[in-house]
Amino acid sequence: MRTRLTAPAIRARKVGTGVDPLVMVTAYDAPGARMADEAGVDLLLVGDSVAMVVLGYDDTLQVTVDDLAHHTAAVARGLATSAPEREAKKPFVVADLPWMSYHTTPVDAVQNAAQLIRAGAQGVKLEGGRKRLPMIEAIIDAEIPVMGHLGLTPQSMHAMGGFKVQGREHSAALDLVADAKALAAAGCFAIVLEGVPDEVARMVTDAVDVPTVGIGAGPGCDGQVLVYHDVLGIEDRILPKFVRRYADLRSAGVEALSAFAGDVRSGAFPAAEESYHLSAEVAETLGLYGLAPVGA
Ligand code: KIV
Repeated sequence: MRTRLTAPAIRARKVGTGVDPLVMVTAYDAPGARMADEAGVDLLLVGDSVAMVVLGYDDTLQVTVDDLAHHTAAVARGLATSAPEREAKKPFVVADLPWMSYHTTPVDAVQNAAQLIRAGAQGVKLEGGRKRLPMIEAIIDAEIPVMGHLGLTPQSMHAMGGFKVQGREHSAALDLVADAKALAAAGCFAIVLEGVPDEVARMVTDAVDVPTVGIGAGPGCDGQVLVYHDVLGIEDRILPKFVRRYADLRSAGVEALSAFAGDVRSGAFPAAEESYHLSAEVAETLGLYGLAPVGA
């Protein structure tokens, strides 16, 4: 039986120790959180990808701590209203610290992380390696679990020259390993590895005693994460190589909405049984004859 994961329990989930790989998916709202919960995922990530897949921006740099707190609270409310028998099995909620919320001072970073915890997250994620250590250490000192994020870090897209696979060169691969070791030593409970060659992800995974959660990093990580809208086929504009779509909800949605539009235009919706009705007595007192009561 699945039990609710804690940060220390996640920290212990190295695949080599005979446990199942960690399953993480993004969530941005209450219904999405409830669906992922029911599906039995281990972690929900309120990712700054909300900027691109929900809010219509071209990159993740446009969202603020307030935006992430708003979506984190919706996810937490969704889990709070999920079936009572799921109480002991709910996923661990990680919220992304957005760009510029942990780039200035450790004090700012702690306060911003606290806002996300108060909104309903159990941990925060931030991007970057050794140069973010002072912020990571300060947040962990404030008793907030931190998940690292290395490799293709979308908040650095301008500095990286776009969304490009990282760690392809010898020294870049070794840098990634050194960053991961530093994050693990600082106390991160897990590390997301995004957009790195499979071989490099395996090197990093072997080098650290905390789980790595891959996205576009091959099968050698201790877990996998995908974006909700990609898994369900709601996002259709881009299909990165690493995405596997498990449904085509966009097509199903367009089809359903077209059917609704057609029914409204033809008069087929709403039907009598989809409408409220007066009782025959009241209808009669109003001089409305011939309208048979169908429902309340
Ligand atoms: O914001 C996000 O969705 C992420 C995942 C890609 C890991 O950071």
